[in-house]
Amino acid sequence: MDLKNVKYESKNGIAFITVNRPDKLNALNDETISELIMVFHDIAHDDCVLSAIVTGAGNKAFIAGADVAELSKNDATAAKRTAQKGQLLTILVENLGKPVIAAINGFTLGGGCEFAMACTIRIASENAKLGQPEVNLGIIPGYGGTQRLPRIVGKGRAMEMILTGDAIDAQEAWRIGLVNKVVPQDKLLEEAEKMARKIMSRGPLAVRYSMEAINAGLEMALREGLTLEANLFSSICATNDMKEGMTAFLEKRTTKFQGQ
Ligand code: COA
Repeated sequence: MDLKNVKYESKNGIAFITVNRPDKLNALNDETISELIMVFHDIAHDDCVLSAIVTGAGNKAFIAGADVAELSKNDATAAKRTAQKGQLLTILVENLGKPVIAAINGFTLGGGCEFAMACTIRIASENAKLGQPEVNLGIIPGYGGTQRLPRIVGKGRAMEMILTGDAIDAQEAWRIGLVNKVVPQDKLLEEAEKMARKIMSRGPLAVRYSMEAINAGLEMALREGLTLEANLFSSICATNDMKEGMTAFLEKRTTKFQGQ
């Protein structure tokens, strides 16, 4: 794959993705978004990859937003295309069927925060700063921020973050549930990998169905969501993974899941 702004390699079942424009604090220009879409399509279809970790190059930024220099040239038509393309990426990441861990290593602003929110789990380094500063530029979030932020942190806090444009530090992001964990910067990738490997050791179909139930269920009324859960529960109970998980427990041994 010919990539200019994204580094991508797979090691022992994990895809490591680095947004690589450190001189622009890894801002998401159109080309970078195209490359990330290609990479995530590749991960979706690669059976050897079971999870992904995304980070930003350097130690200052995860992603400092959409590329303002590019955005400034948008007319209304181009702006809609830009928003829809960013949203395509976030929908792809959110529904990948494999856990994606954002290893947040510094400024995570605007489109960077929106991208991180589409990831399954967010782990932040102590120096991370997260925010939706779009109002400072006279615009609104366009890659899902107005929709995912209130779903993650609640309406009141989302309103405050989006309307003031103020960034919050890693501890505050942890306190309000925007990130799952805060770790020293030099331990960030190690912790992200630890989390990925822990999830990978669980029943792969169970992990996949859980993500599907949570993601789809959040779009549904409670009754519909409960029906979906019961249907997925029924399906998972017909798998070899279910037999293996229960048998291993009863035989007091570790599991050997096949993802079948
Ligand atoms: N788009 C395009 N370029 C960006 C960028 C973005 N979102 N964020 C940072 N950059 C560029 C800067 O223009 C600068 O490039 P230059 O050296 O060619 O001038 C480089 O990255 C370094 O950024 P700089 O502003 O000098 O670093 P800083 O440490 O002083 O400030 C930030 C860091 C994150 C506070 C500041 O860069 C910033 O506010 N960025 C924009 C954040 C934003 O509004 N994001 C939402 C966009 S919708």
